[in-house]
Amino acid sequence: MDFVGLSLPLIFLLWQWTFTTGAESYWTYNGPVGQSKWPEYFPVCGGAAQSPVDIAPVQTQYDPSLGPLTPLGYSQHGKVPFSLHNNGHTVHVSLPDWMGVGGLPWHFTAVQMHLHWGNGSPGAGGSEHTINEQRAAAELHVVHYNSELYPNMSMAKTQRNGLAVLGVLIETGEEDNPAFWNILNYLGRIRHAGQSVSIPAFDVQSLLPPDLGRYYRYNGSLTTPPCFQSVLWTVFTETIKISRTQLTKLETVLYTSKEEDSNRLLMQDNYRMTQPLNDRTVLSSFPLESLKVYSAGEISAIVIGALCGCIGLAVIICFIVKTIRSTSSWDVLPSIRPATILRMPGKEPKQDVALNTTSEPGKKEDPLPTSV
Ligand SMILES: *[C@@H]1O[C@H](CO)[C@@H](O)[C@H](O)[C@H]1NC(C)=O
Ligand SMILES: *[C@@H]1O[C@H](CO)[C@@H](O)[C@H](O)[C@H]1NC(C)=O
Repeated sequence: MDFVGLSLPLIFLLWQWTFTTGAESYWTYNGPVGQSKWPEYFPVCGGAAQSPVDIAPVQTQYDPSLGPLTPLGYSQHGKVPFSLHNNGHTVHVSLPDWMGVGGLPWHFTAVQMHLHWGNGSPGAGGSEHTINEQRAAAELHVVHYNSELYPNMSMAKTQRNGLAVLGVLIETGEEDNPAFWNILNYLGRIRHAGQSVSIPAFDVQSLLPPDLGRYYRYNGSLTTPPCFQSVLWTVFTETIKISRTQLTKLETVLYTSKEEDSNRLLMQDNYRMTQPLNDRTVLSSFPLESLKVYSAGEISAIVIGALCGCIGLAVIICFIVKTIRSTSSWDVLPSIRPATILRMPGKEPKQDVALNTTSEPGKKEDPLPTSV
């Protein structure tokens, strides 16, 4: 009796401990504890203001008060090395607390940056945000906390407006992106979950696109459990490019499994599906008209195309006009002439004038009023 009385609460405590630690430390993108199950273990993941989202540019709302963002101290990386870490879900780089971002309603201090990517199959991307349902190859997130309202990241991450994340869509291009080697070169040293390595500090701004003035803004969440709805999101319209070699390295070097695990699992497709916008509005920092930036080549193609079109149209119009004129002189006039001659035999001189001036359209009408 005493034994049962004592062990029941113990068993309960043990069960609760297993359940909560298990749930909080263990989740995956796919499989039995994959993203569709997140809301069961992390209720906030089922909330109404989740991230990522699909951005449909035509449905965004231009807000002229959204100015360019200013990275603060991103280029002053100093001499202290950065720490690169494999947390089993992504690779992240811790950032020094003198880095921050301006141009937001509060001052935000940098904490870390990390990446999301796909699995290397052709046409399959790995970005979290999508534009018109199009998924980019990968996505970079630079995470900041609101240091004006909160003392640290752990306090800020659960609060509304507690975090600001800069999202940069990554596409593949012809050339290597030198800035990315600052991270990719060291992935081989943190292949397994839980591993960390110190890497030389580098200019973080070199990872960002040059144009920090054009972006989308919305209220959302962390894209990983526990999915706190505390993030003021900025997704830049300008993408950055890395080479296919660099993307392949990102997609094939890391494992989600620990070193001691015999069953090695590659870290791939570590992106969350887009979440419903619900009643949220995505704001844009630029009016829709300037959405497409035309290159010099495109502009000349458009100008030449328009010129050719105008010339073509002019030729067609000339041809039609000439055809009408010739048909008037060959068909219309002869049919009128006999009538005029028949009805008004005395007006033959006028008829000659009309015939001689068929090249002047204004005078062609003369025979008709006289015939009425
Ligand atoms: C964050 O700040 C709170 C309040 O000042 C403090 O209690 C907590 O220990 C801090 N957490 C960390 C991780 O520094
Ligand atoms: C985010 O939510 C706040 C209310 O907490 C609102 O004032 C703000 O306009 C929203 N921002 C965006 C981009 O929708």
